[in-house]
Amino acid sequence: LDDLLAAGVAGRTVLVRADLNVPLDGSVITDDGRIRASLPTLQALRQAGARVVVTAHLGRPKGAPEAKYSLAPAAERLAELLEIDVPLADDLVGPSARSTVAALQDGDIALLENVRFDARETSKDAAERAALADDLVAVVGADAAFVSDGFGVVHRKQASVYEIAQKLPHFAGYLVSNETAVLKKLTVDPERPYVVILGGSKVSDKLGVITSLLPQVDQLLIGGGMAYTFLAAQGHDVGQSLLQEDQIPTCRDLLAEHGDKIVLPSDFVVADKFAADAETKIVSADAIPSEWMGLDVGPDTAARFAEIAAGAATVFWNGPVGVFEMTAFANGTRTVAEGIAGASSFSVVGGGDSAAAVRTLGVDEAGFTHISTGGGASLEYLEGKELPGLAVLED
Ligand code: 3PG
Repeated sequence: LDDLLAAGVAGRTVLVRADLNVPLDGSVITDDGRIRASLPTLQALRQAGARVVVTAHLGRPKGAPEAKYSLAPAAERLAELLEIDVPLADDLVGPSARSTVAALQDGDIALLENVRFDARETSKDAAERAALADDLVAVVGADAAFVSDGFGVVHRKQASVYEIAQKLPHFAGYLVSNETAVLKKLTVDPERPYVVILGGSKVSDKLGVITSLLPQVDQLLIGGGMAYTFLAAQGHDVGQSLLQEDQIPTCRDLLAEHGDKIVLPSDFVVADKFAADAETKIVSADAIPSEWMGLDVGPDTAARFAEIAAGAATVFWNGPVGVFEMTAFANGTRTVAEGIAGASSFSVVGGGDSAAAVRTLGVDEAGFTHISTGGGASLEYLEGKELPGLAVLED
């Protein structure tokens, strides 16, 4: 972005791909972290006199407009934070987008409606995606520049992330540059001990990252819904807890090969149903009653995880270790988060859910070296995969 600014952008239209995919309760944004993280790039462009057009997605609509996925709440929040009007076009590449862009003055910002309302954005067909990128170029003009700032989507080969960069002079925004600089420190000779804490519900989503991280880390702590498949692989009965039976053999292999590095929970908070008002009790990992389900790690596990994290020089944490959205099952995630935040390690939180947990549980954000806006993107970066949205910028 500094290169683009140095060249001068006053009066030039700049298309910015941001990640404004924020959690909503109805139309109320429950965590605006991703919008705030987009501000430095938008402010810098605005102050330099660019005419800024933002494209972004919200949720996973099925390639057609759906009111509940409108970017209207994001546009409103952006306007509040920037203290300016931020008009939202009703469409992406149609008449509303054209007139909204035509009305921009130097230093103005407008938002196009959810890019995933157009099925070509996420199409498997590269020609369809390229056609959407052409339509976006027609809206902003062929002399526009493209700034990629949606770090959370750089792992997606999608029209507004990938093909568009092949059509316009392209630049990494501040968020993309900062995120990659921090994550790179985890992959290139991290200070040791290097500890990774992984939570979240599905072990299948994380197997890639678990497998590629195990050789690199000193300890891998596993909590959340994923833990039960590992426990089942050790022969424990997990009752009604989340279980991916088809992943048990893989978990068994991982335990056989890297059992010395993998740390599993030793106790759980179990519940008689998946509900905030469920009856709960604390049991050891080998005593989950058959009709109950584990919804959080127990106090001994949380304390142990926090202690291991506090003793590490480098910590990466992705995924809550319990159903933190319900107060009765939030203690594990809070204790682990406070343990990391209270230590002086180089600590990175990755993933929308963990970042939201930090903020909604009131853990001091300043205690972390970096809170990544990327969920899948940060995991794929650490896995060492090529991320299309970054590769295309390096071309
Ligand atoms: C995210 O929430 O991780 C990003 O916004 C990407 O969203 P997606 O997983 O729907 O592509």
